[in-house]
Amino acid sequence: MSPCAPSLLCMLLGLFTFRAVDGCYAQAYRQCYYTRDLVTIEFIYSWYFNKAEYLRYNSTTDRYTGFTVYGAKMAESLNLDPKNSLYSHVYTFCKYNSDNYASNVLKKVKPKVMVRSQTSEPDILPAMLLCTVYDYHPKGIKVSWLRDGKVVTEGVSSTEELSDGDWYYQFHTYLEYIPKPGENISCMVQHESLTQPLIYTWKPSLPVDQRNKLIIGIFLLVLGMVLAIAGFLYYMLGSKGRVAKQTSQTISLERTTSEISESSQSSQTSQTSQTALQTSNP
Ligand SMILES: *[C@@H]1O[C@H](CO)[C@@H](O)[C@H](O)[C@H]1NC(C)=O
Ligand SMILES: *[C@@H]1O[C@H](CO)[C@@H](O)[C@H](O)[C@H]1NC(C)=O
Repeated sequence: MSPCAPSLLCMLLGLFTFRAVDGCYAQAYRQCYYTRDLVTIEFIYSWYFNKAEYLRYNSTTDRYTGFTVYGAKMAESLNLDPKNSLYSHVYTFCKYNSDNYASNVLKKVKPKVMVRSQTSEPDILPAMLLCTVYDYHPKGIKVSWLRDGKVVTEGVSSTEELSDGDWYYQFHTYLEYIPKPGENISCMVQHESLTQPLIYTWKPSLPVDQRNKLIIGIFLLVLGMVLAIAGFLYYMLGSKGRVAKQTSQTISLERTTSEISESSQSSQTSQTSQTALQTSNP
């Protein structure tokens, strides 16, 4: 019996009872599970009817398993004949694909790291820092908080290592603490893509009075720029008016010159015709 029979059945059902049944959905899945070294491979072939899996081939056991009454019957008969084994797919499908894509699968990608404050008001205590580590591969990262070079465990909370769904992973860890002046807080990242730990030191924002001075400075700078632009525009508009006046003067000058040359030409023509008349009158 072929494992594809249910999809045929599905078509038949759809054809003959289409008034009673809206439609049906058949699906087959091939999956490969690899160990990280890509040496051990498991091949799984799953068949679904209306999104429920009813039959599965597993290369580790080299057997079919049924999940519905119908699936169990199929599995039983498929398991009787060794010719139905799909074991060769471990090589023809899984290994074939991993050989072609192994360079991507095994690629080590260094994490990107960002340390930032989670406290909106710098004066509210305790302060909270977030260290975000992302876009790295493979899974398996160690991220620690350092306070003046010593590992901190108190006030630390972290997420799981989250899959981005595109081979990459991300990880987030928070540190809640009471700031002390002059201290050095860093986020340390250890990963197999790195030859030595990455250390990102948190640079706190400026104290309030310095920040106010900075804001006033920026305000004055912007004001100065606005005035400069306004002055420049005013100058440009003024000089454009002057250029326009100059052009009209040039045109009228040209006109007078051409009038002059026209009149001189006509006088020349009359002179020539006179000479012509003179020559034709010997
Ligand atoms: C395949 O069979 C092995 C051995 O029984 C089992 O460990 C594994 O979980 C099975 N895989 C799937 C996807 O069912
Ligand atoms: C802060 O501590 C880290 C880790 O101990 C160190 O690498 C870094 O140089 C220190 N930075 C400052 C400004 O002291």
